Order: sequence, then C-alpha cells, then structure tokens
Amino acid sequence: MLMNFLRRLIPFRPPRRELHTLASVDAYSKWATTYPPNAHNALMQVEERAMLSLTLPMDGKIVLDLACGTGRYGLLAWDRGAKTVIGLDNSPDMLHANSLSLKSLSGVTAIPLAANSVDVILCGLGLGHEKRLDAALAEIGRVLRPNGGYALVSDFHPFMFLSGARRTFQAQDGKTYAVEHYPHLYADYHRAAWAANLLIEQVVEPHLDVETSSAENIPAKATEAPVVIVYRLIKP
Ligand SMILES: C[S@@+](CC[C@H](N)C(=O)[O-])C[C@H]1O[C@@H](n2cnc3c(N)ncnc32)[C@H](O)[C@@H]1O
Repeated sequence: MLMNFLRRLIPFRPPRRELHTLASVDAYSKWATTYPPNAHNALMQVEERAMLSLTLPMDGKIVLDLACGTGRYGLLAWDRGAKTVIGLDNSPDMLHANSLSLKSLSGVTAIPLAANSVDVILCGLGLGHEKRLDAALAEIGRVLRPNGGYALVSDFHPFMFLSGARRTFQAQDGKTYAVEHYPHLYADYHRAAWAANLLIEQVVEPHLDVETSSAENIPAKATEAPVVIVYRLIKP
C-alpha cells in the first residue's frame, strides 16, 4: 500500500521481475519528449528545494548545468542572473528537447571545458546514472574555479535504491522501464571529492515533503527515509 502511494508521486517503484532496466542513454531517448524542464514529481520538488537551499549567488557567474537533461537547472541559473549558462548531457534526445542556447553532447567523465573555467556547477540527479563517480568528481574538480567556485550535486538517495526502489518512467509505448542507476554512498562521495581536491561543505538529505504527503494522504511512514541527497562542494 505504501509503495502504491509512492508510485503515484515519485518515479520509483520496487523491482518486479518483468521490469526491464534500460541503459541511461536509451532510457532518456524514450523519455525526452515527455520530460519537462521543471520539478515534475514530488521527489524532484523536494530535491529542487534542497538544491536551492544550498545555492550561493549566481549573478554574473559562468554556470555549468551538468547532466542538464532538458535544462531545469540551467533555466533556474538564468533566472538567478547567471552571465553564461552551459548545458552538457550525454543524451542527444534530452539535449534536443533543451532550450539552452549553449549546450553540447558530453559525458560527466570527460567535460569539454578548460580547467578552472566555471564558477558554478549544478548537477541534478545525474551522477547516479554514472558508475565512475571518481572520474565524474575529478572532472568537476578540474573545471571548477578555485577560491569561490562551488558545485551542487543531487542524487537519488542510496537508502532508496538499496531498499529496492528503482528510478522508473512510463514510455510512449505504455511500458514502464527502470533506468540504469548506481548507488553511491556518502563515503563514496567523500573519497571521490577528496581525491578531486574538493571539499564537501554541506549535505542535506531531505524527506518527502510532509505537507504534500498529508495533502495526498500518504502514510507518515513514507516520509521517514530521505529520498535524495544533495551536496555542496567547494574547490579551495
Ligand atoms: C534525472 S535526469 C536529470 C536532468 C536534469 N539535470 C534535471 O534535474 O532535470 C538525468 C540526466 O542525466 C543524464 N546523464 C546520465 N548519465 C550521464 C553521463 N554519464 N554523462 C552525462 N549526462 C548523463 C541523462 O541523459 C539525463 O538527462
């Protein structure tokens, strides 16, 4: 019963034998046309609020929306006065559906930008799809400007995945698919950040919003475990 409530609200569900897992690029190819550039479910709303709570000023800054998808965080950066916004993603279809003018096809482990060239990196719900967290954080650490540069990174909480929840979506063919995901523990982020000369300055682990949950009649139990984890990393 609890999972039925959660399934209505957030794009995950317990694994079922018939649930097919797609590689990230294949999944987002099917999902892109119906993936709006805003927080379109309760998990994303909670995640976005947490990301914005850790945001430092962006006016006049060069901002990289990494694993940008359809551009949710790039658009928020524009609204906050960024001077330049660059979107990178490894899904051609997500990029096609993205309205940012400066965008390019790129994986998170090989960012096509110069060292120390970016003031702010926003990476929403992307790194969980990448197995090589160390390589991704090494790239974030390389392109980020020192002395004031910061990155906000959000991830599907490993508690969720390790409890059996999956990141799922319904494709145009009517089928529900799971998306490739790798649970990264806090210790994994800490080790990778340290190796990349990044400091984890803030971490938040928000739960499903209690107000939304009670409005939707969700059992209190659903709000007990955090659904996402959000990091603010700085380059000293
Ligand atoms: C859950 S969506 C989030 C999109 C956007 N950041 C947002 O928050 O609305 C995850 C995005 O990460 C991208 N992605 C997954 N693995 C990636 C990788 N290794 N390199 C770059 N982008 C990746 C996907 O193509 C997808 O657009």
